[in-house]
Amino acid sequence: MSSFFNRLIVGVVQLMPKATVRYFSSRYIAGERLSDAVDVSKELNKNRICATIDVLGEAVTTKEEAVQAKNECLKVLEAVSKFRVDANLSIKPTQFGLSIDEEFCLQQVLEIAEKAAKVNNFIRLDMEDSPYTTKTFELLKKARKQYDNIGVVVQAYLHRTYDDVVELNKIGTNYRLCKGIYVEPASIAYKGKQEIRDNYLKILDLMLKNGNYVGIATHDLYLVNAAKELIARYEIPKNKFEFQMLLGVNEDLRDKIAAEGYKIRIYVPFGEHWYKYSIRRLQENPEVAGHIFKNIFGVR
Ligand code: FDA
Repeated sequence: MSSFFNRLIVGVVQLMPKATVRYFSSRYIAGERLSDAVDVSKELNKNRICATIDVLGEAVTTKEEAVQAKNECLKVLEAVSKFRVDANLSIKPTQFGLSIDEEFCLQQVLEIAEKAAKVNNFIRLDMEDSPYTTKTFELLKKARKQYDNIGVVVQAYLHRTYDDVVELNKIGTNYRLCKGIYVEPASIAYKGKQEIRDNYLKILDLMLKNGNYVGIATHDLYLVNAAKELIARYEIPKNKFEFQMLLGVNEDLRDKIAAEGYKIRIYVPFGEHWYKYSIRRLQENPEVAGHIFKNIFGVR
């Protein structure tokens, strides 16, 4: 689909009534309540698929909002433990005040990490747009001095990522590797489909050879197959990697990976901020609008 067409769809989507946006985004979002995320995760667990739960929201403007978001995350960790859900937690640093006060944000993240450690769980720092890349790595490094149950996401579309991984490997980081979803300038990011894939595999190769734990996050069959080849070539043990996908995307591939005996984890977002999240995702990446349009109208 042409980028012009995708942009047109984004424009149209913004004019749609909220109920319509809710309709087409529902397959990507567990629901508004924590119990929805628990139910969806438990359903996945029945098929031996793990989850990572995300409380929807990002870029808060007040500390009160950040504290509220942290409290929600503490509740998620409590519920996951109480209901014996096989799920960890993904968090967006700007949701905990990264753009307001870095030290304050660190304290919020440490509280979440402490709770996660108590219930034997793990948290993942999602990676946001490029103004926050360095700040997120700094946050990770500081937090990991106190807790090792924290990992980070790196984006294969950024030119800097290979060098970042070389640097982060010195502190033994747990990674999720994804292509990257934000619209970044060509001066700092690869734009071509194949060059992003090539960089993804170059980084994955480095991580696997270095013995890092990697969440291989993609729905791209080409990358899934290439990752399987690397895993076989280096004889990577099963406790050193997992595949990861988003809720509602390419479920056939998800089930195939699970049936082959690989560990797979699904990103399960929930919360009342679903509307802003859905619209923002569409604005940030018109490609997603194209996917949605195809899903609704069956366009191939
Ligand atoms: P690609 O976009 O080429 O998609 C491959 C195929 O998958 C498509 O052809 C299509 O069939 C299908 N597909 C992909 N997305 C779809 C959608 N939304 N709806 C329907 N079909 C779709 N990014 C980031 O910047 N920071 C982060 O922290 C994260 N976190 C994260 C966690 C997890 C678990 C995943 C899977 C992804 C992320 N991402 C992310 C998003 C990631 O960067 C990337 O934008 C998407 O995964 C899409 O890239 P693919 O590798 O799937 O390839």
